[in-house]
Amino acid sequence: MQEANRLKRLPLYLFTIIDKLKEETSKNGIDIIDLGMGNPDQSTPRHIVNELCKRAAGGENQRYSRSIDESEIELREAIAKWYRARFGVTLDPSSEVLPLIGSKEGIAHLSLAFLNNDDIALVPNPAYPVHFNGVLIAGGVLHNIPIYEKDGYLPDLKSIPKNILKKSKLLFLSYPHNPTAAVADGDFFQDTVNWAKGKNIIIVHDLAYSDIVFDNFKAPSILQAKGARDMCIEFHTCSKSYNMAGYRIGFAVGNSAILKTLAKTKSYIDFGIFKPIQYAAIKALTGPQTCVKDTVSEYKKRRDVLVKGLREIGWKVPNPKATFYIWARIPDKYSALTSMEFVALLIKETGVAIAPGTGFGEYGEGYVRFALVADTGRLREAVKRIKRVLEMET
Ligand SMILES: Cc1ncc(COP(=O)(O)O)c(C=O)c1O
Repeated sequence: MQEANRLKRLPLYLFTIIDKLKEETSKNGIDIIDLGMGNPDQSTPRHIVNELCKRAAGGENQRYSRSIDESEIELREAIAKWYRARFGVTLDPSSEVLPLIGSKEGIAHLSLAFLNNDDIALVPNPAYPVHFNGVLIAGGVLHNIPIYEKDGYLPDLKSIPKNILKKSKLLFLSYPHNPTAAVADGDFFQDTVNWAKGKNIIIVHDLAYSDIVFDNFKAPSILQAKGARDMCIEFHTCSKSYNMAGYRIGFAVGNSAILKTLAKTKSYIDFGIFKPIQYAAIKALTGPQTCVKDTVSEYKKRRDVLVKGLREIGWKVPNPKATFYIWARIPDKYSALTSMEFVALLIKETGVAIAPGTGFGEYGEGYVRFALVADTGRLREAVKRIKRVLEMET
């Protein structure tokens, strides 16, 4: 059986290789500290789980869900209310809000909704992989915008050649950024919206880490920029703020015509979100937000332990203002290795699994990403083991 050509265009999925390495190491009796995937390990707050269980028992909630159903109407209203409280932006729940089966689903389908075969999507690199993989699956043309540490990992939009811009239909952005943990301020978004005026380019902002912020940093929304509603949509998720990653629920907000086309695409493919999960998300967004503070404060503790620990053993890593990632240059001693080779060495020697920079695109080479998805005790243990590798004879 030959898979479709569109699948052949996709880069190798490095996490499959890493899973294999972890399995082999584990078989050798080494316990694995898995800091590879950004899969939140804290529990969903009790009041949200209770709502899910209560609603799951109701027969009327077990049918296909339709956008005209009460649960979705309530969910759209809850999202708009949350958005106004969080960002001071007022949205029309019926046309400027679209619930999704996780933001990853929406991002992938957005490319399918808008890209013809010769349409270009502008994607900063490194990036969260669905930003570029969605383009490739949809059959569009990918134009990487390299982003660099020296620029705070912000893209230089003025450097994009005119002939590329002419054929460009989508620009992906995402700050706070996965994998680099870089952040952007309101001025950056305003400049980007001004740049896009008259260009016929949809700006897609993925704001998955809006709440995972430290040291008084506040992540802005692109919709706070003047004129943003003309060409922007923004993706959000309950996965990170409320530890609901497995539930699969997120949402898009912004330009109503773009959302309408995305909703049309989805209507041919899915049947919406399981209603009890919609009610759980309503509870999350409208209930007490102390649970978000608790989650963030745990990530902050972990960040502090890992950053301090790695610096103490001689690995100069940055101290991120947001996300639950540490993006670090491969230590000098191993700079001759590719990020994948370094990750493989680390897993084999220590059982500590992290993500290679190239898992997020070719411009991630030279870097690795730690996800803070283990408690402080495990992180201290990880540092102890990594120290051995840094001191090893090579
Ligand atoms: C930047 C970014 N966007 C989207 C997602 C996916 O979120 P969801 O669980 O809503 O699909 C992730 C998950 O790691 C992410 O890092």
